[in-house]
Amino acid sequence: MDTLTIESVRFEHLREAVGIGVSSPRLSWIIVTSIGDWHQSAYEIEATASDGPNRGRTGRIESVESVLVPWPFGPLVSREWIAVRVRVWGADGSESGWSDRFELEAGLLSSADWKARFVTPAWEEDASRPEPCAMLRREFMVRSTVMKARLYVTALGLYEAQINGAVVGDQVFSPGWTSYRKRLRYQTFDVTAMLRVGNNAIGAILGDGWYRGRLGYNGGRRNIFGHRVALLAQLEIGYGNGTTELLSTDSSWRAAQGPILASDIYDGETYDARLEKTGWSNPEFGDNDWTPVRPIEHDLSILFAPMSPPVRRMQLITPVAITRSPSGRVLVDFGQNLVGRIRLCVNGQRGQTITIRHAEVLQNGELCVRPLRTANATDRYTLRGGGTEIWEPRFTYHGFRYAEVEGWPGKIESGDILGVVCHSDLERTGWFECSDPLVNQLYENVVWSMRGNFIDVPTDCPQRDERLGWTGDIQIFAPTACFVYDTAGFLASWLADLAADQEENGAVPFFVPNISESPAIPAGAWGDASVIVPWVHYCRYQDFGILAAQFNSMCAWVDQVHRLTGNRLLWDKGFQFGDWLDPATPPERPGDARTDSALVATAYFAHSAELVSRIAGILGREVEETRYAAMAQGVREAFAAEYVSPNGRVVADTATAYSLALQFGLLPEVHQSRRAGARLAQLVRDSGYRISTGFVGTPLLCDALCCAGEHETAFRLLIQQACPSWLYPVTMGATTAWERWDSMLPDGTVNSGDTTSFNHYALGAVADWLHRAVGGLVSDAPGYRRIRFEPLIGGGLNRVRVRHRTPYGIAEGAWSVDDGRIEVELKIPPNTSARVTLPRKGGESIEVGSGTHRWSYVGQQTASPPLSSASSLSELFSDAEAWAAVSSSVPELACLATITQISSATTLKQQLAFLPDGQALLPALEEVLNRLGNRRNAQ
Ligand code: BGC
Repeated sequence: MDTLTIESVRFEHLREAVGIGVSSPRLSWIIVTSIGDWHQSAYEIEATASDGPNRGRTGRIESVESVLVPWPFGPLVSREWIAVRVRVWGADGSESGWSDRFELEAGLLSSADWKARFVTPAWEEDASRPEPCAMLRREFMVRSTVMKARLYVTALGLYEAQINGAVVGDQVFSPGWTSYRKRLRYQTFDVTAMLRVGNNAIGAILGDGWYRGRLGYNGGRRNIFGHRVALLAQLEIGYGNGTTELLSTDSSWRAAQGPILASDIYDGETYDARLEKTGWSNPEFGDNDWTPVRPIEHDLSILFAPMSPPVRRMQLITPVAITRSPSGRVLVDFGQNLVGRIRLCVNGQRGQTITIRHAEVLQNGELCVRPLRTANATDRYTLRGGGTEIWEPRFTYHGFRYAEVEGWPGKIESGDILGVVCHSDLERTGWFECSDPLVNQLYENVVWSMRGNFIDVPTDCPQRDERLGWTGDIQIFAPTACFVYDTAGFLASWLADLAADQEENGAVPFFVPNISESPAIPAGAWGDASVIVPWVHYCRYQDFGILAAQFNSMCAWVDQVHRLTGNRLLWDKGFQFGDWLDPATPPERPGDARTDSALVATAYFAHSAELVSRIAGILGREVEETRYAAMAQGVREAFAAEYVSPNGRVVADTATAYSLALQFGLLPEVHQSRRAGARLAQLVRDSGYRISTGFVGTPLLCDALCCAGEHETAFRLLIQQACPSWLYPVTMGATTAWERWDSMLPDGTVNSGDTTSFNHYALGAVADWLHRAVGGLVSDAPGYRRIRFEPLIGGGLNRVRVRHRTPYGIAEGAWSVDDGRIEVELKIPPNTSARVTLPRKGGESIEVGSGTHRWSYVGQQTASPPLSSASSLSELFSDAEAWAAVSSSVPELACLATITQISSATTLKQQLAFLPDGQALLPALEEVLNRLGNRRNAQ
């Protein structure tokens, strides 16, 4: 019997829809069926209100849409609770039953709903340094049985709310980090079960957090968003008789300082358990000696409800080793570079202080804290004594694999100390696995770096005095991020902050939320996040709304670049990061890349203008579509005139320059693209298949090689283990992706550069190529509604599996090669279709519908790789025809035959170095190779 059911119904991009801030939330459902090639032809939605009656029923609607379907009923009003169910019909006449009911509840949709006012303790503070964290409280009566109670709450700073002695919810770092001056998130908690008839108490602890703690490099600044922490809380209690009672932050609350003596995101937390105020969030506590609070005015119209999941404690990790360092210090090794903090379980004497310092790596067996720059990353706990004490800091986090513990009473056992991994509670949606354990570890490292840097904001790194929402980093990483986790709501929220922080003139700050005092400086490839991130979001999640919401922001960005470049359309003035961290740059000057930064910025200008034109087309804005298309064309022409030779050389002659030119379509003629592709491959070979690209070139490199027909060259880059390469860190024991190719040098010492993070996702963007090219799973129409499955076999891999939960459900592709026999499997979700091009099967494509498909065949011999991909002369010697052509055209090379056989030189360049003036022969050699390659490819 075939089955057809609806697995889930989602509102907007939220898994938890209590307190939703959208009055007409779009709905998406996932269909599960055993029927093959299933397509939806109609749906029906029914909404039930809390008091039972139908809130609405659409009747059967003929439509194929199942993702982000417009809300079909009247808009929600504040606090309205609704349960929704859906059923569908298939084009084949099949019919599902009703889904389960999925609940949503509106938050406070208008600022007029807020009766509460922000309150702050009425004491004076020295805001220039961390002060003890404030605790705020109040008691209240509950008259009779509570039917429904909601706490709407936020803070200037971070808060942890408590009711009757228990923490409200399981979030950490609430209300999260947004562009606080313009957008402040509040949370809604169902606290019905926490209240009891009679006396109750509510309280909150406030932390400085991002709001007024220290932020930024070069020492950073405090009080960036404000000087006073404050709480805004509104508890609404609904009784059985239909009456409601409201308890809000106002001047009746009391405040005191408690055991958290200092708390700072970078520097850590200091806690003295002797100062705990036991029972402070319980009733009958006695707060006579507490201080009053005072209301502060704050614009409530900037409050908004979560669009994305909160940060939570996601995993506990037990140490793999507790040892002594050469200098005798106690070191705890968690075996994994993680982001979060440590939880202690300790028994000891009152007044004893435990100090914990954190670091990602050891050097000479000792904690290496230099890469943290000025971040102290130190937690201190002073025991209250008299029993087991469990403690974890509240308002700080660290990036660490190792912790150095001082002052522990007695010997630490492994269960006494845990690593608590914290990050945004995103749903995992992507996996990749293959036959090469090193590539699998690389992939795991990328996933861990994403986890460590998705703490409400997509940050560059989690450990040093930075941890900022760097635009360039997420611009590069977004395609990977969207695959590995469902980041739809997370990125939508961040993009709203980007637009909010954008300058009037369109300049996008380096990082969002912006913490800089000075006007934003536009930088190519970084500010382009304003265009590229929404575009990737749309392609992966089919969210048309994100394009509409960000359209003004993206136009403003491109327009201001246009103004900067003037009629010349070349962005060659002003500051640029360029191909940041090109491996050839000296450690102290990460911006000194080989590729002209003006070329990088101009290439991005062309790319973004082109994307904005396409987006305008999708939004039906013809005027802008034409305008930006013309702009993009103009920039491409300017780029070609300035940087491209008639034969397809790109002047920087670097892998980054060719990758940009090829991937962004900046080469006007086909022959130029062909030549550029060949030259790119040549450069990769010349560098011995080691990476020669920085932030900008790296994510484009493998795709550019594949487009040039140089798949195997791309694979050789992937499986390279020598430094710089993706696998080098893996061979050095990395458990996260590094900022620099050589954050740790081969001798185990830490790179002396100032930017040496061991947890940066940017260079991990190669995972996107693994998903799309090696795994072959490509979104061919927004939201993977149409899939292209075109895996690549190569790199000596004999097995690959890739899996992604698309907005329509699970898509999964796998291939294996065994003695020439190829097995391929593809599963795609209902209501989608796929075009499949099987590897090594002659290149023809097949169309398939939803369901599971399998193929088994003997692979065709691949045409001999284009000669231009030969990595060394040794490869050519085994190819009689090639060698004959080479040695007759470039006779000087003939003698190399013997030299290379006895030498350990592995690359053409190294081999040519055996000849006086050998490098000068390269162009001639390439010429012959290309000629031959083209002839063979044409055959
Ligand atoms: C960050 C980067 C960022 C860069 C700007 C660094 O300090 O960690 O990832 O994009 O500055 O180039």
